[in-house]
Amino acid sequence: MPMAIPATMTAIEIPTPGGPECLVPTTRPVPKPAHGEVLVRVAGAGINRADTLQREGKYPMPPGATDIPGLECSGVVVALGDGTSRWQVGDRVCALLSGGGYAEYINVPEPQCMAIPEGVDLVEAGGIPETFCTVWTNVFERSGLRPGEVFLIQGGTSGIGFTAIQLAKAFGSPVLATAGSDEKCEACIGFGADRAINYKTEDFVAAGMEFTDGRGVDVILDMVGGSYIQRELEVMAREGRLCFVALMEGTRPGQVDFGLVHRKHLTVTGSTLRSRSVEAKGAICQALETKCWPLFETGACWPVTYKRFPLAEAGKAHELMESSQHIGKILLTTGFDG
Ligand SMILES: NC(=O)c1ccc[n+]([C@@H]2O[C@H](COP(=O)([O-])OP(=O)(O)OC[C@H]3O[C@@H](n4cnc5c(N)ncnc54)[C@H](OP(=O)(O)O)[C@@H]3O)[C@@H](O)[C@H]2O)c1
Repeated sequence: MPMAIPATMTAIEIPTPGGPECLVPTTRPVPKPAHGEVLVRVAGAGINRADTLQREGKYPMPPGATDIPGLECSGVVVALGDGTSRWQVGDRVCALLSGGGYAEYINVPEPQCMAIPEGVDLVEAGGIPETFCTVWTNVFERSGLRPGEVFLIQGGTSGIGFTAIQLAKAFGSPVLATAGSDEKCEACIGFGADRAINYKTEDFVAAGMEFTDGRGVDVILDMVGGSYIQRELEVMAREGRLCFVALMEGTRPGQVDFGLVHRKHLTVTGSTLRSRSVEAKGAICQALETKCWPLFETGACWPVTYKRFPLAEAGKAHELMESSQHIGKILLTTGFDG
């Protein structure tokens, strides 16, 4: 039976940029799906580090995107726009968004919706799209990680981090991961890392060289940048690929020896997901469904949720993310669970 769709919904807005207290509940009209879009009633929405930058006014929305934050969600399709063909009302989906996940309803371009991976809880699925799309496109498409190549992820217990560990292991790579405490290092091993490095007490260059008998690592996924860049070039193997998804410590690292890039035939790359077209995002979503979703059935991948907050407590969720205590994903819930 079709679900009744209310005229208005609760969403989170940012009337003025600033701290977590700037995330406030508001009432907005429930949007009508445009051509090529489906309307999703949201069950869960993942918090991502980029949302904290948007809240501070440092990460503007791409043109045409809603001002409501939230780059991913899960839920149930409740209405179909013209020109859609894959989804039916009642289908359970998770979705990669350009914004708008912190709300009870959201319009999503059809190609950015994915089936929920087998065995995954509807709410938890709201924390899967952003990190799996980011890791897939940067580690496998852009950096071309091949089975047997050694992979290093910086920030192994972040949403991006645990996803990268799971996927790299599942596709046959030995994995090293850095994290800022022994507890977080243990969690990295639990996600499948072969070697965890507490970056506060150990040097990842020495650890990487020791792990590879002096050969170096083949692919690094980095979100730190800054002073890490020179050291990453040092720990890379010949033909290695260094890929940035963020540069939290800074984009201007001071002295970097590009002779290492030259002599070792390195590739330095990076990308952003949010600014890509619907077609490009849809292609990544399709690759995930084909290549990664079966890994949830075999147990090689699983969602890692640290804590859930009701939608109205989005500010508390951001406070937790900024404390960096979390291991895995932080989710917002609307109270709807299918
Ligand atoms: N380019 C893209 O398309 C894209 C897409 C999604 C996310 N991202 C970026 O990826 C990053 C992770 O996102 P997320 O949502 O997963 O955030 P998150 O869970 O908050 O992760 C941030 C992580 O950084 C780690 N960290 C901080 N300083 C570090 C250092 N010096 N060395 C190693 N790790 C360090 C923190 O762990 P410790 O406590 O261990 O320090 C924490 O686990 C963010 O910067 C985000 O903007 C980019």
